[in-house]
Amino acid sequence: MSMKAEVNAARLLASVAEFAAIGATPAGGVNRPALSIEDRAARRRLAERALARGFTVFQDGIANLFIRREGRNAALPPLLIGSHLDSQPTGGRFDGALGTLSAFEVLEALADAEIETDRAVEVVAFTNEEGSRYSPGCMGSMAFAGAGTAGDWAATPATDGLLLADELAATLAALPEATVGPTGHPISAFVELHIEQGPVLEQEDVPIGVVTAVQGTKWFEIVFSGTAAHAGTTPFEFRKDPMGAAAAAIASLQSTVMPADPAARLTVGRISAEPGSINVIPSSVSFTVDIRHPDAAILAEMEQQVRRQCDEEGRRWNCDVAISQRVDMAPGRFSSSIATTIEDASRSLGLKSRRMVSGAFHDALFVSRVAPAAMIFVPCRDGISHNEAEFVTDAHMISGARVLLAVVESMLQLG
Ligand code: GLV
Ligand code: MN
Ligand code: MN
Repeated sequence: MSMKAEVNAARLLASVAEFAAIGATPAGGVNRPALSIEDRAARRRLAERALARGFTVFQDGIANLFIRREGRNAALPPLLIGSHLDSQPTGGRFDGALGTLSAFEVLEALADAEIETDRAVEVVAFTNEEGSRYSPGCMGSMAFAGAGTAGDWAATPATDGLLLADELAATLAALPEATVGPTGHPISAFVELHIEQGPVLEQEDVPIGVVTAVQGTKWFEIVFSGTAAHAGTTPFEFRKDPMGAAAAAIASLQSTVMPADPAARLTVGRISAEPGSINVIPSSVSFTVDIRHPDAAILAEMEQQVRRQCDEEGRRWNCDVAISQRVDMAPGRFSSSIATTIEDASRSLGLKSRRMVSGAFHDALFVSRVAPAAMIFVPCRDGISHNEAEFVTDAHMISGARVLLAVVESMLQLG
């Protein structure tokens, strides 16, 4: 006779605190870059806890880490829940980790209550969701969904120079307990819990977001090239100064794209100059552009605008421009039936919910291409994320995990 499954709130909060210590920054955030030593330590800890509970652990070719609680019928595709464990360089402790650890808590809650399920339930920690150390982001879920392979990205250098192939091999080898299986096994569905990373839920005092869609994202690396020359002796008309071109292009994009459309997003998050000396006109300046929009056609127009304005400034400043695309994520829609299940689960727990579109991309975007998928959002303070100050209240964490458990029970037709 099984008991009723319950989220163990103290254990969930202790898990979040424990993982926040892996790669902790002095300002209270986390620096756990994808495939780094810190990322490996987090995976190891999760695998140890899983093995101690009698769950099975395995990895795939891109080092997605899976934890499986077996069902009665091993032939049925498992229900997948989870998120990611990698972070931004000055990331918060909740982005990714909260979803992964809440999913693990659901597995433990089912085990505590000795609940038998027909299909297995698997927790996943997808590799490199952030895309900060290696782009593109969502590599693990892209590979899982057949939208890329580890081989495609093998030669990608990290921001610290180490090749993806080497760091991937070291990460896989660091967890010999987890056998490496094929990438992309069948699943029945995927549910990902995540912090909202925006202000809406907090402003409206709604504890649960039901994510129905994810806006599209494109990333570019733009390189203006000119001629390195002396800062003191080179008159304006002799210069081929890529910093002039880059500054002008960035200023014109910043002052046109978002002011023209409240739904548009444009971010230049990284810039570097070569050779990077105070008294040398740079030979090249490179910067990244992240653009987003819920409408694929408008996002395509935004891309053309980025290309046009960069070409124009390159010509004006007598510099060459090279534009390479790093990410092309079309907007995606989630399963409406899982959205309804999340709404019903929230209602049954006395929690208000509201439907919303995600401004951030997530692993669920790619998984939704191969199986029904949806997401549960919980509020974060002041909408702040990708920041060490990211904060979620204990009550919101616990509510989110309870909703995830109730959704899993409903999808497994338990109770
Ligand atoms: C995910 O981290 C994103 O940038 O949307
Ligand atoms: Mn995330
Ligand atoms: Mn993130």
